[in-house]
Amino acid sequence: MSENESISQVRKGLAGVVADYTAISKVNPESNSLLYRGYPVQELAAHCSFEEVAWLIWHGELPQPEELAEFEKFERSLRALDDRTKRMIDELPVTDHPMDVLRTAVSHIGALDPTLGHEHEHEHEHEHEGGAGANPGVDPGSSVNSDVDFNQGRAVYLLAQLPSIVAYDQRRRRGEPLIEPRKDLNYSENFLYMTFGAVPEAPVVDAFRVSLILYAEHSFNASTFTTRVIASTLSDIYSAVVGAIGALKGPLHGGANEAVMHAFDEIGSADRTEQWLADCLDHGNKIMGFGHRVYKNGDSRVPTMKASLDNLVEYYGRPDILELYTSLETAMASRKNIKPNLDYPSGPAYHLMGFATEAFTPLFAASRVVGWTAHFMEQQKHNSLIRPISEYNGHEERHLSR
Ligand code: COA
Repeated sequence: MSENESISQVRKGLAGVVADYTAISKVNPESNSLLYRGYPVQELAAHCSFEEVAWLIWHGELPQPEELAEFEKFERSLRALDDRTKRMIDELPVTDHPMDVLRTAVSHIGALDPTLGHEHEHEHEHEHEGGAGANPGVDPGSSVNSDVDFNQGRAVYLLAQLPSIVAYDQRRRRGEPLIEPRKDLNYSENFLYMTFGAVPEAPVVDAFRVSLILYAEHSFNASTFTTRVIASTLSDIYSAVVGAIGALKGPLHGGANEAVMHAFDEIGSADRTEQWLADCLDHGNKIMGFGHRVYKNGDSRVPTMKASLDNLVEYYGRPDILELYTSLETAMASRKNIKPNLDYPSGPAYHLMGFATEAFTPLFAASRVVGWTAHFMEQQKHNSLIRPISEYNGHEERHLSR
């Protein structure tokens, strides 16, 4: 069919369109559940490290102890930023949004990867060196014989680098020097350590770990679909992640967690919530952190994140945050019957941990890079170029008068 021929139905926003198969995660709005490779995300959040969940999402099974140990060692060896990337970040204005810095830095580290475009010249001869300026290479556990092996290595490299970029950017905005990563800390501890200069106490680390697990994967959301579109052209994994970061930045997607905190700041105290909400709705504004394209009866991840938020509220002694949270949730339920999504509890949770509001969406990106890269590899394994068609509704054919 050509683009000018009649098309039966235009599906705005691809709503309800089943675009492909995936074995990575299942979002089920009927049972209000989310499975990663078959496991309920709530069980994974209760019992697993973020590293185990990342491995599960990539490989389809939870790691054996020796696989986990090797993977953790590899990830820790890749955390340090290349000096050239540090200098590049330094060049960017601190007034830039951190998502713009992250997008630019990922593009930069991709352009520094010497294996990119030369995979087959390097077959069977890679040895990973680790550390700043190192070639990301490939996972030493792999047999190094296909693009998938290279991309799996790059996926771990991206996972290891994103916290360093996000932490460095936050610190330079506060006028503080970079903190080098530590190999004796797990992913969540190291991320917090590089941002704040100390590993916080267990309730904080645990709430952070839970948020990372909940954010890691969510089927064909906008940023993941962006990744798959880019993968489908047989472009490279860094380009796909750069595109995904751009998609995630928008307030209808990942930018919502940051917008929730701005709303709390605007409202100020729970007694003002109803008036604030009425004003917003009267002006036709959407309330960030509420609603979902797929879940229409509540987001399956919210109760788990809310429990972590409750722990943080108690740990930091901030009942005012909980009052705001409950007042807006209740008012939205009675005015619009719309429930919160994951960004609603994660925004105030990140605030309590001490992150700047503008850093919330980069935290989401650092976790979701696991899902993006898993989908990149799945798309390329069973590839078909993603290229929908459109119904033309522009000007009739016409001709130049000269
Ligand atoms: N605040 C106020 N009204 C909302 C709303 C919100 N957060 N989310 C949906 N609605 C209303 C819409 O105004 C619309 O009402 P109408 O039929 O009277 O016009 C109706 O609910 C359907 O909304 P629509 O935007 O068509 O649904 P969608 O499936 O396209 O939207 C989102 C999904 C996520 C884009 C939407 O809920 C939203 O914008 N939420 C806020 C941003 C956010 O939190 N994003 C993170 C998602 S994980």
